[in-house]
Amino acid sequence: MKTFRRILLSLSMVGLLTIGVGFLQKAAGEEPAYIGVAKCKLCHSKQHKVWSGSKHAKAFEDLKPAEQKNPKCLGCHVTGYRQTQQVTPEMAGIQCESCHGPGSLYIKIHPRGDKEGARKAGLIAHPDTESCKTCHNPESPTFEGFDYTKLWDQIKHPR
Ligand code: HEC
Ligand code: HEC
Ligand code: HEC
Ligand code: HEC
Repeated sequence: MKTFRRILLSLSMVGLLTIGVGFLQKAAGEEPAYIGVAKCKLCHSKQHKVWSGSKHAKAFEDLKPAEQKNPKCLGCHVTGYRQTQQVTPEMAGIQCESCHGPGSLYIKIHPRGDKEGARKAGLIAHPDTESCKTCHNPESPTFEGFDYTKLWDQIKHPR
């Protein structure tokens, strides 16, 4: 009984801490925001060159004018739309931050090679197959299946 209560107590402590930390981060305005591919290009010209030749870069312009206003299409064709519900020229298409996470916080940390700090600030250094499937799934009207190895081969952008 005693152990059970101790477990219960420590569980609720963890809960309170989590809520507390979340609250502090929000209070300090520490939610990462999307900043756009132009910022990433400043230091990652090599990756940018590969990306700008990919279909992800054209994902917004490939929509017809009416589709560019249809919320049903934008979540997978505009960077950060699911989070912000906004369409701006800076966020057109599937940019770096769609896969690597919104950059306003980690952009100040990760160039120093602080991998742990960057991860805490929201950098997804190694986007996985599952992250692709948040868009490459049957909810896409043009979906014909998803083969990671084949598709990654078309967009890979190594150092
Ligand atoms: C001021 C320069 C600078 C800017 C701006 C910048 N980066 Fe980087 N980035 C770097 C450097 C330097 C490294 C290598 C750091 C290291 O050795 O771990 C890096 C590494 C990375 C990595 C690999 C991380 C890892 O752990 O292997 C990713 C992914 C990345 N950047 C994404 C981005 C994205 C996305 C943006 C735009 C939101 C961006 N970067 C903007 C300088 C920059
Ligand atoms: C936020 C949504 C989103 C995510 C995440 C995403 N994609 Fe895409 N992807 C798209 C859209 C939208 C297109 C179609 C763009 C167009 O043709 O206008 C596309 C097109 C592609 C294409 C070109 C397909 C073709 O038929 O020519 C490849 C390759 C691709 N994605 C690979 C990937 C891989 C690999 C990942 C994960 C590492 C990934 N994508 C993650 C939205 C996404
Ligand atoms: C469709 C998703 C997607 C997009 C868009 C994307 N990346 Fe990546 N990126 C990945 C994946 C997946 C990896 C490989 C991660 C791994 O090695 O595990 C990667 C790797 C990287 C690396 C590390 C390369 C290495 O070999 O160590 C850097 C740096 C990087 N991306 C920067 C960028 C920048 C800058 C942009 C925009 C110009 C961008 N990425 C756009 C998914 C994406
Ligand atoms: C769940 C995410 C998702 C939604 C929602 C979505 N798309 Fe896409 N779209 C994709 C992906 C991923 C691709 C790449 C091809 C594929 O796998 O379907 C794509 C490709 C496309 C293409 C390029 C097709 C080609 O053959 O090159 C067009 C055009 C397009 N979508 C239009 C739309 C329209 C119009 C809507 C809204 C009615 C929409 N999409 C909604 C994810 C999505």
